[in-house]
Parts: sequence; structure tokens; C-alpha cells
Amino acid sequence: MTDPIIRMTDIEKHFGSVIALNGVTVEFYPGECHCLLGDNGAGKSTFIKTMSGVHKPTKGKIEFEGKEMNFADPRDAIAAGIATVYQDLAMIPLMSVSRNFFMGNEPVKKVAGMSFFDHEHANDVTMSEMKKMGINLRGPDQAVGTLSGGERQTVAIARAVHFGAKVLILDEPTSALGVRQTANVLATVDKVRKQGIAVVFITHNVRHAMAVGDRFTVLNRGKTFGTASRGEITPEQLQDMMAGGEELATLEGSLGGTV
Ligand SMILES: Nc1ncnc2c1ncn2[C@@H]1O[C@H](COP(=O)(O)OP(=O)(O)OP(=O)(O)O)[C@@H](O)[C@H]1O
Ligand SMILES: [Mg+2]
Repeated sequence: MTDPIIRMTDIEKHFGSVIALNGVTVEFYPGECHCLLGDNGAGKSTFIKTMSGVHKPTKGKIEFEGKEMNFADPRDAIAAGIATVYQDLAMIPLMSVSRNFFMGNEPVKKVAGMSFFDHEHANDVTMSEMKKMGINLRGPDQAVGTLSGGERQTVAIARAVHFGAKVLILDEPTSALGVRQTANVLATVDKVRKQGIAVVFITHNVRHAMAVGDRFTVLNRGKTFGTASRGEITPEQLQDMMAGGEELATLEGSLGGTV
């Protein structure tokens, strides 16, 4: 097996008296989709924020490509190649897909000594990158606001990949989507993984995780039960670990069925 691109060892994160992470160790490999599962408040977002330079760990070690890292802020992590796509995407609905794609990285051309946004280049790249992800835009000028939620997620993912992400973190990319849109996003994740990028996929949904995950880590109240590979664990076991088996069994009993 190749070396991990990121190794998080014994990570703790305290917010005052709240212990959000209590000694979590996980390794992430290139070309793998690693699902991070857990109930509300389990520590999933805190964990990926620690990995992407938003939070400093209270304790523990972060290694990136074999070297110990202390990210001062998210820009350090982005420069290293760790990109995060949040559910509330940083996009401007009234602006075109192409403008959004290049936001913050505007290509410039010089005409008579003056700099202009290079529309042609931006449009060509946007159309071709979106096509690679299986989305045929009506045109590069199509406003982001007219895309579906799943297509918007795909724009954000394609953008991160185009600008050199080695690790792509997706925080609940499918939680607000319907079945078809979810399928599109999962197909996009599959394409990204096949390019050798390490995908970290956060979800509450065991079915979504099972559809694309190579490995699975469950967080429960800031701790992990460890990591399982595809084939080593059933959806039922994952679900039980997330909820704490007992609580779910009680709920099933009181509802007289399967939750
Ligand atoms: N900035 C913060 N200050 C104080 N407490 C925080 C902060 N961020 C998170 N927490 C606490 O840490 C715990 C873990 O939160 P976190 O957001 O990581 O959970 P999560 O697994 O992402 O949950 P969800 O599924 O609801 O998104 C919670 O108890 C939360 O209240
Ligand atoms: Mg969260």
C-alpha cells in the first residue's frame, strides 16, 4: 500500500470545557474515498477543520506527505493542497459558472499594457472541466443560481480539483439533495478518487457512504472506534456505531419497526 497523504494522530480539540475530539487517529490515502460518519455533534466538522487549518488541535500530531504540519490558517492548508467544499458553498448565484469557477484565481490577459479578465480562457476551461465531471452546461455564462444543488456541488468540486487539490474534504455534500442529485455527486466523488486524490467524505447517511466509500471511520462523542475497509463492515454495523446501538434498538422497539 502507498503511504498516507495525511496522518492525524491522537488529535484532541477542546473548546473551553467541551471536549469535541478526544484522541482521534486516522490515516487518509491518495485515491481513496474515506467516509467520516457520526451523529450530530460527534466531532466530524471539528475534525476536518483541524485537518484544514481552521482549528489548531489542543493536542496531537498532523502529518502531511510524511512531514509534521502546523497550519497557521486555512490558506496554509489550501496552499499545501487540502481543499474543503462546505455545504453552504462559497458561490455567487447571479454570477456565471465560469466567473464562480475562477473566483479568487482570475486568469488575466494583457491588452495594450492593461490587464483584463481573460473570459475566453476561463470559459473554455470551465466548459471542459464541467464536461469531465459529466455536466453539460448550456454555456459558460449560465448563472450558478440556475444550477441544481448537485450541479453546484460539482462546480465546487471541479474547481478544487482544477486548482490542484490533493486532498478534497466534502462536509455533508449530499445532505440537502434528492436521490438523482445525490447520485450525481457520488459519481463525481468516484471520478475525483480515480484521479488519485484523497477524498474525505462526511455524511450522516450510511447508504451514501456505502455507495462510494473505500474506508469508513465512525466518530462518536469525539472518539473513534477505528477504521474499517469496504467489505469488513455492514451498513447495520455502521449505523449502530453511529447511534450507539442501544439507543437505536430502544427507538426501534418503541416505533415497532426498523428505523
Ligand atoms: N467553535 C466551537 N466552540 C465551542 N464548541 C464547539 C465549537 N465547534 C464545535 N463545538 C462543539 O463540539 C462538538 C462537536 O461539534 P461538530 O460540529 O464537530 O460536530 P459534527 O459531528 O460536525 O455535527 P453535525 O453532524 O451536527 O454537523 C459539539 O458539542 C459542538 O457543540
Ligand atoms: Mg458538522
